Amino acid sequence: MKKITIILLLGSLIVTAASSYAYLRSTYTMDTENSVVYLPQDDPADAKFPEGAKIYKAKCVACHQLTGLGIPNAFPPLKDSDYLMADKKRAVRQVLNGSHEEMVVNGVTYNMPMPFQVDTHEDAVNVINYVLNAWGNDGGTITVEEVKDIKIVRP
Ligand code: HEC
Repeated sequence: MKKITIILLLGSLIVTAASSYAYLRSTYTMDTENSVVYLPQDDPADAKFPEGAKIYKAKCVACHQLTGLGIPNAFPPLKDSDYLMADKKRAVRQVLNGSHEEMVVNGVTYNMPMPFQVDTHEDAVNVINYVLNAWGNDGGTITVEEVKDIKIVRP
């Protein structure tokens, strides 16, 4: 191999290694719309709402994903969701009782069932307070007091 080829190869290896290292060390990255997405392990919401973060990672990630972006046309996003931001109490009811109805989130219609996820008002409030503030969301919080009249309905 020519010396110059070896130098070029080594050079590109170093650049690749350096940028992967920078990516792994960074606290956030950008999504396709260029807004900030915190990498899951560095999201400030994890420290602020540890109980909710735990529930989210155990129960919600399969559909709504670690990024909160959901799966286009199947599972709606929770990051920057106009539907979530519009009504915190409705979101608590969503995780307590689930739903199967047409839902328009950020202009996209969803109509797959979401099974109920938690059995207590405390767990529901914890996980909703987490999603209201994860991934750069700035949705405020809700208290158990505000939702205690929601009836838990089981099929
Ligand atoms: C099996 C997949 C699945 C799981 C698990 C799941 N969801 Fe959902 N979620 C959905 C679907 C599908 C919808 C739309 C439901 C409809 O159209 O009736 C939805 C809708 C929502 C909405 C309202 C729409 C929006 O994007 O703002 C919220 C809030 C929500 N889910 C939160 C959660 C939380 C929090 C958890 C975990 C505790 C969770 N979901 C677990 C599938 C899921």
